Amino acid sequence: MREYTIAAIPADGIGPEVIAAGTTVLKALEQRLGEAKFNVTTFDWGSDYYKKHGVMMPADGLKTLKPFDAIYFGAVGAPDVPDHVTLWGLRLPICQGFDQYANVRPTRILPGVTSPLRHVGEGDLDWVIVRENSEGEYAGHGGRAHRGLPEEVATEVAIFTRVGVTRIMRYAFKLAQARPRKLLTVVTKSNAQRHGMVMWDEIAAEVSQEFPDVTWDKMLVDAMTVRMTLKPQSLDTIVATNLHADILSDLAGALAGSLGVAPTGNIDPERRFPSMFEPIHGSAFDITGKGIANPVASFWTAAQMLDHLGEAEASARLMRAVERVCAAGILTPDVGGTATTAEVTAAVVDAIHSSN
Ligand code: NAI
Ligand code: MG
Repeated sequence: MREYTIAAIPADGIGPEVIAAGTTVLKALEQRLGEAKFNVTTFDWGSDYYKKHGVMMPADGLKTLKPFDAIYFGAVGAPDVPDHVTLWGLRLPICQGFDQYANVRPTRILPGVTSPLRHVGEGDLDWVIVRENSEGEYAGHGGRAHRGLPEEVATEVAIFTRVGVTRIMRYAFKLAQARPRKLLTVVTKSNAQRHGMVMWDEIAAEVSQEFPDVTWDKMLVDAMTVRMTLKPQSLDTIVATNLHADILSDLAGALAGSLGVAPTGNIDPERRFPSMFEPIHGSAFDITGKGIANPVASFWTAAQMLDHLGEAEASARLMRAVERVCAAGILTPDVGGTATTAEVTAAVVDAIHSSN
């Protein structure tokens, strides 16, 4: 029996609802396959913890998490705690402290889910966006001087290092190589930004030499939004900076039908630290406690987690079950259905048990 330790951090809003659903599904896989065990330990960190203790997680939180095989994360954000406190107090320290430099976001139109793009259906949009997750525009470099005065100045400096760009490029080429189409699009803005972005292009060309079987091309980020919308079939694997990929992946999520289905993995490819898997969506205050949160994003990211752990069969079985349930029209309201979180979860559990 292969055993894995998973640290669940459901945190805020619908986070606990979708992580509970995901944990149920992991247990079903465990029973169905009978060869892998997922030992889930749940941590009560987040905004309620903050209100009691003044911090989002204990000071030694990273030390506690480090021995786990993976982290399964819900969402952070509460209406009465500022967003920069919740984000910089829990999610970002984990991403940065564990050097999860590859943020990987698969996007696909699931059966039964309708894309807002006319004439685009299942199979026409099947992408993985690789987002640089450790530097770039979100490096936190910059400052403000002369606050409030007419001469106030603020800088927000994007940091690109050869090490940082090379490692994300290599990750993206390797991922593209592992997918059937072996197709990579490198996104920059190297016409207007002539330092960091030109270095991206140069490093992409260098790294491409190591992957002669991968076809690759370059796009400027503005033109990329047009291509994603008009020719989604022409894309497969995509790599972009922290900021560009943040924006493009929200667009990708919307084009695929709903934020409620979009997953993401924050990965340390060198496996020095646990990687973290989470739905892309936030804590969704508007539907918290109503029992209608879409659990599909948390199932899909659990499948990403299983792949990362080397449990490819469990991962594939989970995705087949999710697709069967979606195709049968058992969908939450955000994707046009009337099912509850519990009904979708029960249907996925059934599909795991009944499929061969
Ligand atoms: P949000 O993703 O929480 O919600 C946006 C809209 O999508 C809402 O109408 C919500 O009901 C819907 N939605 C999201 N997930 C859904 C699901 N699983 N099923 C059905 N509908 C779903 O984004 P919003 O409203 O901008 O942010 C709310 C809070 O979440 C804020 O505090 C924000 O900072 C935080 N947030 C946290 C993230 C994280 O933990 N990674 C990511 C994004 C936002
Ligand atoms: Mg975003």
